[in-house]
Amino acid sequence: MSSERRLELELQVAEARANAQACCSCISGSISFIVFTCLAIWVFKGVDDPKSSIQSLYLPALNKTSLDTTTPTNNTLFFELQLSNSNDHWGIYYGNVNLTFYDNPISTRSHVIGNYTIPRFYQGYNKKATKRGAVEVNTTLVSQAFCSPKGYMAFRAEMETVIRFRIQSLFKSKRKKLMRRANVVINEQGVLIVNQDGIKLI
Ligand SMILES: *[C@@H]1O[C@H](CO)[C@@H](O)[C@H](O)[C@H]1NC(C)=O
Ligand SMILES: *[C@@H]1O[C@H](CO)[C@@H](O)[C@H](O)[C@H]1NC(C)=O
Ligand SMILES: *[C@@H]1O[C@H](CO)[C@@H](O)[C@H](O)[C@H]1NC(C)=O
Ligand SMILES: *[C@@H]1O[C@H](CO)[C@@H](O)[C@H](O)[C@H]1NC(C)=O
Ligand SMILES: *[C@@H]1O[C@H](CO)[C@@H](O)[C@H](O)[C@H]1NC(C)=O
Repeated sequence: MSSERRLELELQVAEARANAQACCSCISGSISFIVFTCLAIWVFKGVDDPKSSIQSLYLPALNKTSLDTTTPTNNTLFFELQLSNSNDHWGIYYGNVNLTFYDNPISTRSHVIGNYTIPRFYQGYNKKATKRGAVEVNTTLVSQAFCSPKGYMAFRAEMETVIRFRIQSLFKSKRKKLMRRANVVINEQGVLIVNQDGIKLI
């Protein structure tokens, strides 16, 4: 074979190879694009904020049926807060969760009777967390709160935190502030009036 002919052949082979590679990378490019798009749609489709509710609340100071003489000065408030993540793929990082209790549902007339901080935590997807705590309250303010003839009293609970969503260990969302509140009514035994779903914080 002449050297000219050999050179021609080599050039043809190189050209064919280059074409094949271009075609391959074109196909794999399209596949990557489709995969990436699907992933993006899957990842960013509706992510729901966690739901929060007060499951129970007890103020021994307001237990009028109690025979214990120290009860009226008992300055403890016991609570149970539920946080639930209904997302299928996203976990949630909660920053410190601040809970504040007020002596009146109307914000312009209310004073803080006590507060509590639940330390930061992580919650996996489709998980519920129940956080219990005891808050020292201002009994002077509690005793001055509005009381119905039946002995029912209304307070307000507020929750404030900062959350981030996480998918696998791939991606973390930006921080998002979450503020929720609810009015809570206590009966003459100092117990929250509640159904099985609790009082939803909205
Ligand atoms: C209120 O006090 C009464 C009498 O001491 C007690 O039997 C009752 O369990 C108390 N209520 C609650 C919710 O603990
Ligand atoms: C307040 O009441 C609760 C429940 O009855 C009790 O466990 C707690 O020890 C009381 N605290 C004080 C300071 O009396
Ligand atoms: C809770 O109360 C304490 C003392 O009253 C105060 O120093 C703190 O800033 C309050 N925290 C929140 C979250 O309101
Ligand atoms: C309770 O609240 C009253 C009225 O705001 C206030 O004068 C008092 O200092 C408070 N007590 C405590 C222990 O914070
Ligand atoms: C919670 O309370 C602390 C102390 O008052 C405050 O520094 C922090 O910013 C509060 N967090 C949120 C999310 O409001």
